[in-house]
Amino acid sequence: MIDLTLGVSVNALSSGGALLGRVGDEEVLVARVGDRFFAVGAHCTHYHGPLAQGLVVGSTVRCPLHHACFSLETGEALRAPALDAISCWRVERRGDTVFVREKAEPPPAARPADPRRHPSSIVIVGGGAAGLAAADMLRREAYEGPIAIISADPDPPIDRPNLSKDYLAGEAQEDWMPLWPPDLYAQRHVELVLESRVVSIDPAARTLALDNGTRRDFGALLLATGADPVRLTIPGEGGQVLYLRSFSDSRAIVERAGTATRVVVVGASFIGLEVSAALRTRGVAVDVVAPERVPLERIMGAEIGRFVQSLHEAHGVVFHLGETVASVAGRTVTLSGGTKLEADFVVMGVGVRPAVALAEKAGLAVDRGLVVNEFLETSAAGVFAAGDVARWPDPHTGERIRVEHWVVAERQGQVAARNMLGRRERFDAVPFFWSQHYDVTIRYVGHAERWDRVNVDGSLDARDASVSFMREGKRLAVATVSRDRENLEAEVELEGTTAAR
Ligand SMILES: Cc1cc2nc3c(=O)[nH]c(=O)nc-3n(C[C@H](O)[C@H](O)[C@H](O)COP(=O)(O)OP(=O)(O)OC[C@H]3O[C@@H](n4cnc5c(N)ncnc54)[C@H](O)[C@@H]3O)c2cc1C
Ligand code: FES
Repeated sequence: MIDLTLGVSVNALSSGGALLGRVGDEEVLVARVGDRFFAVGAHCTHYHGPLAQGLVVGSTVRCPLHHACFSLETGEALRAPALDAISCWRVERRGDTVFVREKAEPPPAARPADPRRHPSSIVIVGGGAAGLAAADMLRREAYEGPIAIISADPDPPIDRPNLSKDYLAGEAQEDWMPLWPPDLYAQRHVELVLESRVVSIDPAARTLALDNGTRRDFGALLLATGADPVRLTIPGEGGQVLYLRSFSDSRAIVERAGTATRVVVVGASFIGLEVSAALRTRGVAVDVVAPERVPLERIMGAEIGRFVQSLHEAHGVVFHLGETVASVAGRTVTLSGGTKLEADFVVMGVGVRPAVALAEKAGLAVDRGLVVNEFLETSAAGVFAAGDVARWPDPHTGERIRVEHWVVAERQGQVAARNMLGRRERFDAVPFFWSQHYDVTIRYVGHAERWDRVNVDGSLDARDASVSFMREGKRLAVATVSRDRENLEAEVELEGTTAAR
């Protein structure tokens, strides 16, 4: 790898290009934007993604793994899922050579735009992706008032997507899971109230009540209550049926998997299938029971659905499609068609519902989610919503949509935070999510609830493909396998397409 302190020819890089080198022991990315050169840390602060394989867009670089976006000028993590900045180095150009010099000091903290417009206090209901990203952004934006995160969970905000992936497979440690190190809450003066449920809100009086009987006032409120797993009543069930949403849910599955030989997973959803992959990694036999003809067909189309099914079958998962569970009795799971399966326990992955009960009770507008405008404001002044619970007007499809994607939840939390401080920033990010099955990751950018054509470029079987979902000739979404840069390019393309409103 080239030593960047010795200089790089300016001709080695065209505008928009980036090159990987090192300074001492650190890997550094040099990027060119027009006639300006930047040097930044080469790895994303989310999951260490290789930024050299990402995309330079304007004076930013985007990570190929989960689309975090960093400023090349300051290193700041402009868009989640990364929250922390990357390092920057000073660059000097002499003639046709660019030299990377010493590491630059991090930029000073932002000055509050106009503190007189800031709310007296901010309460965030929900200690998940959106809630934590909002608190993080409020402090980055130099909000100096009190911030409280109230969460029904017993654990601090954690990396929820990992609950069905490496953590469940036994390949990620407990201490990798928290989104913030434990002492950061005190350092950044964010009060974290755990195992506490907000039971009512009075938006006009700007107060809320907790399940322990206490009340709190707020200047502004963020509802980031996420979604709850759909729970089915199964005849005969007596503690063998587990769900997966929280850290404690995942720990419970890990504990039961320790002595299990066979598990039935109900639902061929992303979560059901990721749980299947994790359990197979632990050597547990898995049967998947689901009513659909092809897994994931409704969300990703039959092509990707069949590909994911064959991937799981190659790892020993047995599918029972077109079936549901009729009853559970001890270790016997009886399917609707009469088949009997053995299982030490059952994991349900049959979807989630937005957690709107609190908002509904407070009289906020609810329509298959908590309705927000483009600034993520609910129908009550001073009350915002973000994440799985929120249904927002998506400028790209021209429709009101609600999704269950980690990156969207965090980005909405960030935008809602800035808007609580008086910015009028529209939420216009193109939705993105990823899903991991063994050594294959699918990345999906855009949003297509309906499509009339699917274009497959490359080969899914060869694990090298880009699948476009089209409606009336317009590309609405793209799913890729092993084409991470193409997925970023599609994100940029989709950002440019805004439905007429
Ligand atoms: C196992 C699993 C794997 C996933 N994998 C992926 C993935 O690979 N890629 C992807 O894009 N997305 C994935 N997701 C989805 C992603 O995690 C969600 O989209 C994201 O967590 C939503 O964030 P949120 O902040 O809206 O809600 P959450 O993260 O669910 O947080 C909601 C919080 O609100 C709290 N709460 C609810 N009601 C109250 C109340 N009344 N009072 C106080 N607190 C309350 C809850 O306790 C919780 O802390 C996964 C989800 C799960 C469960
Ligand atoms: S590793 Fe960069 S966004 Fe996840």
